[in-house]
Amino acid sequence: RNIHHEESVDSTQKIAHRLAYEGSPEGTVVIAEEQLSGRGRMDRRWHSPKSTGVWMSVILRPNIPPPKAPQLTLITAVAVVQAIEELTGLTPQIKWPNDILMNGKKVTGILTELQADADRIISIIIGIGINVNQQLNDYPDELKHIATSLSIEKGEKLSRADLIKILLGKLENLYKLYLDKGFYPIKLLWESYAVSIGKSLTARTITGTIYGKALGITDDGVLMIEDSNGKVHHVYSADIEL
Ligand code: BTN
Repeated sequence: RNIHHEESVDSTQKIAHRLAYEGSPEGTVVIAEEQLSGRGRMDRRWHSPKSTGVWMSVILRPNIPPPKAPQLTLITAVAVVQAIEELTGLTPQIKWPNDILMNGKKVTGILTELQADADRIISIIIGIGINVNQQLNDYPDELKHIATSLSIEKGEKLSRADLIKILLGKLENLYKLYLDKGFYPIKLLWESYAVSIGKSLTARTITGTIYGKALGITDDGVLMIEDSNGKVHHVYSADIEL
């Protein structure tokens, strides 16, 4: 396996982007003990303190058009849920598109970024941040009520190495299933773990706010929301409030 294990980096995404650009093969993984400027979605920061979590980026090179890239986020979310289930015996929930929650608090974030031209993906960089061994006091005040860790939920310290091993195995299996059978089997798995489907929610997108009921996801992994006029909106990227 092509695994790069680093002590301290600014962001594993940045390193993976460079490796992808230089031609690193599909399946290349960058893991860091600590990130000094971990990145989240929507230009946010991702708190990545030393040796407490899994801070990891994976390079994939699926032969799909750019609009299907959200599917890879959902594949990754299912892999993370399955890995957490296997390691802890607890079942997290997925909040579209990429948040993984336990007891309503965020335990994992996924950030999918592309290197693509107009009609072809050259590489896809999937960043995964899993809070593993943080305790509540380790979190800055503004995160205390929205973030949790596997250790807080399980009540014991957990092995990050075991989690990484299980997760890479699940990701590989699901990715193969996807290349083989398409997105549909993944979509069913994803929906079985999703909290938002069938519920009323608010989606804040860059172009405006949509209130309505989440109907499900399309075959491309795009969220469908029906507003009170019965109009169905396709949402590619948003912040969801339940
Ligand atoms: C989010 O929920 O906003 C996504 C968070 C993604 C965090 C991971 S940690 C590993 C990788 N490197 C980064 O800088 N970000 C992602």
